[in-house]
Amino acid sequence: EEEKKAEEDKTLVMATNAEFPPYEYYEGEEVVGIDVDIAKAVAEELGMELKIEDMAFDSVIPAVSSGKADIALAGLTVTDERKENLNFTDTYAKATQVIIVKEDSAIAGPDDLEGKKIGVQLGTTGDLYASDIKDAEVEQYNKGFEAVQATMQGKIDAVIIDSEPAKEFVAEAEGLKILDEAFTEEEYAIGIAKDNDELLEKVNKALKTLKESGKLDEIVAEYIKA
Ligand code: ARG
Repeated sequence: EEEKKAEEDKTLVMATNAEFPPYEYYEGEEVVGIDVDIAKAVAEELGMELKIEDMAFDSVIPAVSSGKADIALAGLTVTDERKENLNFTDTYAKATQVIIVKEDSAIAGPDDLEGKKIGVQLGTTGDLYASDIKDAEVEQYNKGFEAVQATMQGKIDAVIIDSEPAKEFVAEAEGLKILDEAFTEEEYAIGIAKDNDELLEKVNKALKTLKESGKLDEIVAEYIKA
């Protein structure tokens, strides 16, 4: 029993949804990406072993708030609503929610989304933005790429999704484009359970070290070519 506890203390469990390149995605059987490398570097700073738990995106926050996982690292945007359920570390990246449409679409920006069929990944901030659009019909997908494919097939009119995955998905798809006009800027941070201030402090310290040493920039540059 005590041995098991000691083992748990040494393991840092990361809850994520590996459908979000370049932050977390599958390369063969392995989950890789910016968030994975950040988690590995943080775990190393903490002298812990990283364990990755891939799950549905809308399970990531509950996994951490219930204590099943230690950190939520999933391109997770800091929002006031989420702050009610978990604490966020300092931020490590910026992003925007962008709109993906067919190349020949008449939709040119957020204002044109009124009354349209919009695809999102379930539980994301893109989902929240879409629900606020007047008369829009929101289709919630388990994976962001499924929404992109539905747009390609003409089943829906547009996708609202984070900027970096949008670039990857559009490059993989055909006949799609990302609109220049986007929604407001967001920030990504690591989510930690409300009652785990000790871990919050440690992870913030590790993040600071990674920022100051240039390691964080190095990780990002490996996945996002400037
Ligand atoms: N940034 C958005 C949010 O926090 C989308 C994150 C999706 N992440 C993922 N790993 N699928 O809601």
